This record gives sequence, C-alpha cells and structure tokens, in this order.
Amino acid sequence: MSTMEWESRGNGRMDIERLDDGADFAALLRWCRRRAGLGQATLAELSGLGVRTIRDLELGRTSHPHRESVRLLADALGLEGDAGERFRRAAGHAPRAEPLHLPARPGQLPPDLADFTGRAEQLAALRGLLTAGARPAPAVVVLGGQPGAGKTALAVRAGHELESQFPHGCLHADLRGTGPAPLTPGAVLASFLRALGVDGADVPADVDGRVALYRSCTAGRRVLVLLDDAAAEAQVRPLLPSGAGCAALVTSRTRLAGLEAAVSLPVGVLEPSEAVRLLGRVAGAARVAAEPAAATAIVERCAFLPLAVRIAGARLAGRPHWKLSRLTAVLDDDRRRLDELRAGDLNVRASIAVSYRLLGTDARTALRRIGLLDAPDFGVWAGAALVDAGVERAEHLCERLVEAHLLELAGEDAAGHARYRMPDLVRAFARERLLREESPDSRAEALRRVVDRGLQLADRVARLGGGPSPR
Ligand SMILES: Nc1ncnc2c1ncn2[C@@H]1O[C@H](COP(=O)(O)OP(=O)(O)OP(=O)(O)O)[C@@H](O)[C@H]1O
Ligand SMILES: [Mg+2]
Repeated sequence: MSTMEWESRGNGRMDIERLDDGADFAALLRWCRRRAGLGQATLAELSGLGVRTIRDLELGRTSHPHRESVRLLADALGLEGDAGERFRRAAGHAPRAEPLHLPARPGQLPPDLADFTGRAEQLAALRGLLTAGARPAPAVVVLGGQPGAGKTALAVRAGHELESQFPHGCLHADLRGTGPAPLTPGAVLASFLRALGVDGADVPADVDGRVALYRSCTAGRRVLVLLDDAAAEAQVRPLLPSGAGCAALVTSRTRLAGLEAAVSLPVGVLEPSEAVRLLGRVAGAARVAAEPAAATAIVERCAFLPLAVRIAGARLAGRPHWKLSRLTAVLDDDRRRLDELRAGDLNVRASIAVSYRLLGTDARTALRRIGLLDAPDFGVWAGAALVDAGVERAEHLCERLVEAHLLELAGEDAAGHARYRMPDLVRAFARERLLREESPDSRAEALRRVVDRGLQLADRVARLGGGPSPR
C-alpha cells in the first residue's frame, strides 16, 4: 500500500506495517505525528529536535533526513520493532527488504509541439516563477490572452521544459472552461487522485474529502499541475496543490483576477519575425524564403495571432502549387478574411465566437459596435456613445471585454480615462456580427452618436483654450 492510499484511510486504524517500501517519509512522519495526537511543537519537545526541522521534514524539504534525527523521531513517536524499521527505511536508513514500489508518478502532460516557435521571454519568466528556490507556498501562474493566442501551447512547452524539476510528476486537466459544460473540481480531483496512486475505491465520495486528500497527497511533494482553459477562480481553487514545492500553471481566456497570490503572465501575439518563422515551419521554409514580402503580408493579415498563422500555413501546405502572394490577396479582403482563416478543425471565427457567446447581452452589443470604429484605439466616451449609455456604464462594459481579452488597454487620455484597442481579427468578427445582428438604422445611429459626442467634446476643449482633441 502506498503512503497516499495509507494516509487516505487516516482513521487511526491502519497499521504502519501495511505500508509498502515506496513510502514517502514526509507524509509518513506527518501521519504518525497526527495519529499520536501530537502537534509539531510537542513532537519537537519530545524528540529534542527543532520545530523547524520537523516542519521541513514534513514538507519534504529535507531530502536526506539525518540518521540520528530519524531515530529520535521514531523513539518520540513510539515506533518500535518492524514499525520503527519501516519508518527508518522510508527515511532511507535501512536496507530495503523488498523491491521498491514508488508511489505513482503521473506524467500527464500533453505532447509538446514539434514546431513550437518563439516565446523565449515568457518561457524564461515561467522558469523563474515556477522553479524559484525555497518558497512558503506553491507557485501559481495564470497565462491569459485572446482566443488562439497560444496559451495552451506555451503552458505545455513550459511543462516539458520544467518537468524534471518536479520529481513527483505532472498532472494535467483540460477544464473546458469555455465549453458548454466546464468540468467540476470534484470530477477533476477524482482523476488527479487516481493518477497520484489512490485506489479508485478510496477516492472520497464528497468534494471536500477529495480536496483534503488531494492536499495531503501533494503536501511535501513537488508536483506540477497544468490546468488548461479555466472558466473561473472557483473552478481552479480546489485544484491547487498544497506543497510549497508544487506549482500550478493555469490558462484561461479570462483574467482570474480573484485568484489569491497568483501571478498573471499575459500571452500576446507573436513578434512579426516569429510569426514568419512559424509560417515557414508549417508551410515550408523554402517557400517563405522565396517570397519574404508576401510572407510578411500574410502574418500581418493574421494579426500575428498564432492560431491564424498556423491556419494560413496549413492552407499553404495543402496547396503546394500556390504562390504565397495568392493567399495574401485572398486575406486582403476584410469581409472574407475570417472565411479564409479556417483549416480542418482550426477556425478563427469559431474560436472568437466561443468567447462572444460567454458575454452578457450588453457586452456583446458593445463589442459589435466598437467594430464600427476605424481608429486604432478609442476613448471610453466613444464607447459610451456607441452603446448610448453613460461613461461609467461604458467603462464597465469595456472592462468586461478587457477581462475576456477581446479588448486591450491602450493607455489613458489626458483626463485619466482609459483608452482601448480592439485586436484586428476580433474587429473583423465584431463587424460580421454587427451586420448580422443590427439593422442599418441602429448602426447609423450609433455612429451619429459618436460623431455628435466627439463634436461636443471638441467644442468643450476649444472653449477651455486648447488641449488634445478627442479621437
Ligand atoms: N508558440 C507557438 N508555436 C507554434 N504554434 C503555436 C504557438 N502558439 C500557438 N500555436 C498554435 O496556434 C494554435 C492556437 O494555440 P493554443 O491552442 O495554444 O491557443 P490558446 O490561446 O490556448 O487558445 P484558446 O483560447 O482557444 O484556448 C494552435 O494550433 C497551436 O498549435
Ligand atoms: Mg487553450
């Protein structure tokens, strides 16, 4: 029986003799102490060791416990005979009687992308955040970004790069946060527990029990947990591992601002040169090298979005006789661009539509109408005019769209109001929905309100004696 299974039955009736040789000393010590009804301070007093030493041993921070410390602990815990020997063996101080049965070491990372491109800066940041030396709590990093920005690809690449730093394994779950039925924490926990070596029959029936067991299975261990496509904070919290040496890497289309002590790492679009490199890897490096200007034009029309670049590359790969310039011409037409950015099950329009469907009615209206604006960025007053509401309401809706990564903050105007920018392909999507969902009159009125509001503001600025004119 592994330490985890054994610990999971933590009702005091289990006997240490039933534990197999792969026992994890940290978990074993914790369990024996609790079974004896002792706090860490009391055990420290009884054994003559420091509380800190005991805490470090229980957290697995001490990889080779000192022989004398182990003897003192066994004495203080009243572990004699076979029990004492098993305790010492778990600490690595007695010859193993039987072959070693290591607790399950899950390796659930999805396969890495062979043509993964760029992201050197983000990977370096992740290395620092997830593997930094001793820390008091597990590291939690949230990768956020617009649909198709490459959050999952980056998380998987980082997982493979850092896997060796997590000797107790990697867990992975696609939480399906943007789908119609996001996974419940209870379901994910059941599969995590089994992957960690807990027998199916020992998985507690209730969520609280699963959370508690998951925490004791990850305490004192170094496990990396990849939580992909999270819907919200509440879905993620129960899945965070408890050991300070563990780390969680979460991807989400929303910002998960409420996740305590998590570090947010934005995943933007690719650098232009990286986007061209990715196009070459998918479509053929020689073709891209033969038409560099057309390649640059294609990735520009893809707004440097990895999903769009991969689709453009896949389309070229399927048409080896095409010149690259032919695809450039096709993508030039704004109204056809989203029709063209599809290949197999990869589809830019469908990907943005998933986020659009998750918005409330008013935020959807705001998104559609913001698509009417031609300026590279806009002030919140323009948003207010578009949705025919006050500035506060417009700010709230724009924030909601920023939260969903369908708008980006572009700075502040002179009055301290936020300015926003809509990513190009999101704008193409917004315009399509506008044409489909709103009447020509409603579109014209929205634009007229923007012009009127702009003129009013310009007038006010002029009367105040200059200053920047509104855009
Ligand atoms: N750095 C990269 N190198 C190569 N391909 C990439 C890279 N980033 C993303 N891709 C490709 O772009 C597409 C979208 O990537 P990914 O699924 O990681 O995006 P995402 O941000 O997780 O999207 P979603 O919001 O839908 O979850 C995939 O086909 C992926 O293979
Ligand atoms: Mg993803």
